[in-house]
Amino acid sequence: MCGIVGFIGNNDAKQIILNGLTRLEYRGYDSAGLSLFNQRYQNFDIYKDEGRVQKLIDSTKNAAYSNVGIGHTRWATHGKVNKENSHPHYSQSRRFIIVHNGVIDNYQDLKSQYLSNANFSSDTDTEVIAQLIETFAQTLHVENAITTTLKLLHGSYALLVLDANDPEKIYAAKYKSPLIVGHGESGITIASDLMALIGYSDTYHALEDKTFVVARRDDVKIFNLDHQLIDAVFKPIEMDAADTTKGEFAHYMLKEIHEQPSVIRRIVGNYYDYDASTINPEIIKSMRASDRIYILAAGTSMHAGLIGKQLIEQLAEIPVEVHIASEFAYQMPLISKKPFFILVTQSGETADLRACLVLLKKYQYPTLTITNVATSTLAREASYNLEIFAGPEIAVASTKAYVAQVAVLAIVAFELSAKTFDIKDALTKAALSIEKFLSSEKMDDLVRNFLTRRNCFFIGRGLDYYVGLEAALKLKEISYIQTEGFAAGELKHGTIALIEDGTPVIALISNPEINGNTRSNLKEVQARGAYTFKIVTSDCAQPDDEVVLDQVHPLLTALVMVVPTQLLAYYAALDRSYDIDKPRNLAKSVTVE
Ligand code: G6P
Repeated sequence: MCGIVGFIGNNDAKQIILNGLTRLEYRGYDSAGLSLFNQRYQNFDIYKDEGRVQKLIDSTKNAAYSNVGIGHTRWATHGKVNKENSHPHYSQSRRFIIVHNGVIDNYQDLKSQYLSNANFSSDTDTEVIAQLIETFAQTLHVENAITTTLKLLHGSYALLVLDANDPEKIYAAKYKSPLIVGHGESGITIASDLMALIGYSDTYHALEDKTFVVARRDDVKIFNLDHQLIDAVFKPIEMDAADTTKGEFAHYMLKEIHEQPSVIRRIVGNYYDYDASTINPEIIKSMRASDRIYILAAGTSMHAGLIGKQLIEQLAEIPVEVHIASEFAYQMPLISKKPFFILVTQSGETADLRACLVLLKKYQYPTLTITNVATSTLAREASYNLEIFAGPEIAVASTKAYVAQVAVLAIVAFELSAKTFDIKDALTKAALSIEKFLSSEKMDDLVRNFLTRRNCFFIGRGLDYYVGLEAALKLKEISYIQTEGFAAGELKHGTIALIEDGTPVIALISNPEINGNTRSNLKEVQARGAYTFKIVTSDCAQPDDEVVLDQVHPLLTALVMVVPTQLLAYYAALDRSYDIDKPRNLAKSVTVE
């Protein structure tokens, strides 16, 4: 939620910040803004408006050259989407300029307690921070004014602060929301995500909570809130700039769908050294010692968790419960005597999960995160972390991260089991099956015929039901068609009332044992006018099936079955000329509860 980038050094700050914001737009795109130092007037210019980063690129074409600046792309929480509420925000005298990611819960209290005489130009919680710093800076040194302010804030923040009286510094601070400091030959870049640093920094340091940063052109110092210097370790950046481009594809989503076979192979490569698993044996030991595994997650990751539940229960015979993170955090169910918790989160920053982790740590329960970002807050705070190696996923609608999460959960389930088959081979076959389908898919033509209605259903049983939930979410997210994933046998118990002439019902069938049952359910909706469509594996195929995928290991069908549904969503959105990579109202990394 919200992306921030700041640069100070010997390079074009505008260019670095705009490139960074473009890469961070997945974090929100309600508005974009930038502040740059203007040598001539010896103050900071501010450019901001509602709309995308492209609009900001156009409006800053003639901005004065600057070596220092901060920028922001917003996913609105406090205050409407408009120019006034866009970041950067500034204090009353315009001395302090700030960008912020997070939510300050007590901003109204702070406003009435300390700022009753201040004039505000926005409805945001962020402006309160700028005004507080200015108020305290009347009597305190600026660094103390900032840390005094930070200590008053309840909620979450990643902040960058500029002081017009000292344009040779950027101040930064972090609590709960992510912030990474990058160091390169041309200067210091500070951003919400490593992706914004690629090409400008050689090394990075992911800030810990309650840290305060003072960045100069060629030097950065990191303190705790009591001003004690922290000895921060900077690691080399290993990501490539090519990872952040669309390459030959029209959209990031399409590129990421096509990357899935290589992601699965990369996971196999990372988790196996010949036949030996590279997973920390302590993780497996701790899971085996548990009497119940709890998987907590949100959105697409929760759908991956549901597949994980089936795999772990069937392979390892340990009972598994899957919970929606935002529910679990405030309505904790009865927990077994020896629980083990898996938090599935591609970003590793989801606030709903963070709330769960805080609770779990309080009880000292063992926790494992399955993330795409090893430097993320949750990955660092959990007892263990397993990476999914999906590479940067830039489209807001998740595809390859889901497949990667399922593949890693499959490996975990396998490592917990009696190992009666070859998981490496099974995953490699799944990658091949996806590759074969992608090389000849005709989803575009197929979709045009029938996704013309306001609503749609995916039906399936077992693993296919869970894939249907994810398929429905994907279609909703980017085509705005109201879609439900349904257990095929359950549709007749009520929801069948919604079937009308032409209502699309897509059946997912990958289990020969229940092939006939799901097909009967299809007949029931056909009899009521539904337009039906089948995605099946070859062992379940019948002559008129629209999409037939190569058969894979029965426990890994989700990996391949989901792929046609991703493309179905993609082409439905393409047909409607929607913004596929940045669907309305969404953000990829949701750092607010
Ligand atoms: C957001 C994204 C979803 C994602 C969910 C959980 O809602 O739009 O695609 O599945 O957050 O994110 P996480 O990073 O925890 O997997």
